[in-house]
Amino acid sequence: MKIAVIGGGSTYTPELVDGFARLGKTVSELVLIDPAADRLEIVGAFAARIFAAYGHPGKVTWTTDLDAGVTDADAAVIQLRVGGQRARISDETFPLECGCVGQETTGAGGLAKALRTVPVILDVAERIRERAKPGAWIVDFTNPVGIVTRALLDAGHRAVGLCNVAIGFQRRFAGYLGVDPATVVLDHVGLNHLTWERAAFVDGVDRLPELLSDHLPDISGEVDIPESIIAMLGAVPSYYLSYFYKHDKHVQESLGQQTRGQRVAEIEAILLDMYRDETLTAKPALLGERGGAYYSEAAVGLLASLFGLDDTSVHSVNVRNNGTLPFLPAEAVIEVSARAGLKGPDPLPVTAVPPDLAGLISHVYGYEELALDAALRGGRDRVYRALLAHPLIGQHDRADALTDKLIASGRSHLAWA
Ligand code: G6P
Ligand code: MN
Repeated sequence: MKIAVIGGGSTYTPELVDGFARLGKTVSELVLIDPAADRLEIVGAFAARIFAAYGHPGKVTWTTDLDAGVTDADAAVIQLRVGGQRARISDETFPLECGCVGQETTGAGGLAKALRTVPVILDVAERIRERAKPGAWIVDFTNPVGIVTRALLDAGHRAVGLCNVAIGFQRRFAGYLGVDPATVVLDHVGLNHLTWERAAFVDGVDRLPELLSDHLPDISGEVDIPESIIAMLGAVPSYYLSYFYKHDKHVQESLGQQTRGQRVAEIEAILLDMYRDETLTAKPALLGERGGAYYSEAAVGLLASLFGLDDTSVHSVNVRNNGTLPFLPAEAVIEVSARAGLKGPDPLPVTAVPPDLAGLISHVYGYEELALDAALRGGRDRVYRALLAHPLIGQHDRADALTDKLIASGRSHLAWA
């Protein structure tokens, strides 16, 4: 099995490679593809050392040539970042000037990221379609994952969107309960980065009530959301919901602070230096300071199912709604728990979603549709309309000012601007 990693020069790549080295024994070749040749050389050589250290029989290769890299691939993982950390830092700062949260996937920053990312991803996907094996899967990690996955599916690609939020909860809950993580099946529902864990089944028994009575302070701290909200909902929101439930507080706390992108740029510089060391053969602890914990395990696990090697595991994936959430259109992309096989993911049934969750999901879904339209067709009016539709923006003056700032800061990446 040949797996192509688009954006393979990322400092995150050793996390992914570690997962394939430990768990992906059917992989014969992992090809890392990235336009940044210097970085790719460092990350590629380190990735090869990780494979060798685990005694993995497959090979790691790397290339700056996308077409050559994806040729005959069985699957492609897309994890690119258009504009690098510099663009991310811009997304994290311009909304603050209008009193809105500055975040790379939530709010105006997320829209800026979608606008510059969707066209690039669609181009990459077209080239995968032309050269990879027929039916090759695309696993998308590139944010904003919900919008990007919708764009890929609408363009007819065999794509699944993946995020590590759910697998993170699965691992933490398993730790609290003292059980094997694979036995924890989450009722995970919503849109990417707008999800709630409504149940945690172990052997068919929902253990979430027990987790909430025994570990509420810890869980509340991890997601940065008040205990009272979690107890009231009887569900655990992801920490991305804190940007909604505590929006103004986030804005106040961000002012004058280093942004996450700035911190990540510092971590990346140190990581790259470490990766240059030819005696390093395992991912360094510093990589754990990035937000990508377990994402390799999520990717390897999902690919095993998509290749027909595991039809029992449950994965949290971004897929077409097709009636799973009855209050959204069939064509919407949602994030839910699913089994998966050769034909793709098959969502587990979802019980009725309460009105507060369904309302917010619907509201953000409306924004996402408009965001995708703006990403595909461009134009100030479409950007404004998407911003106005976002529940964290919603007012004319803010949406109008944010539109100008978004276009001004993102212009170099927007063909139409
Ligand atoms: C989590 C999210 C990802 C996001 C990452 C950011 O893993 O699920 O979608 O990209 O955090 O981590 P970073 O270290 O870049 O802040
Ligand atoms: Mn994510």
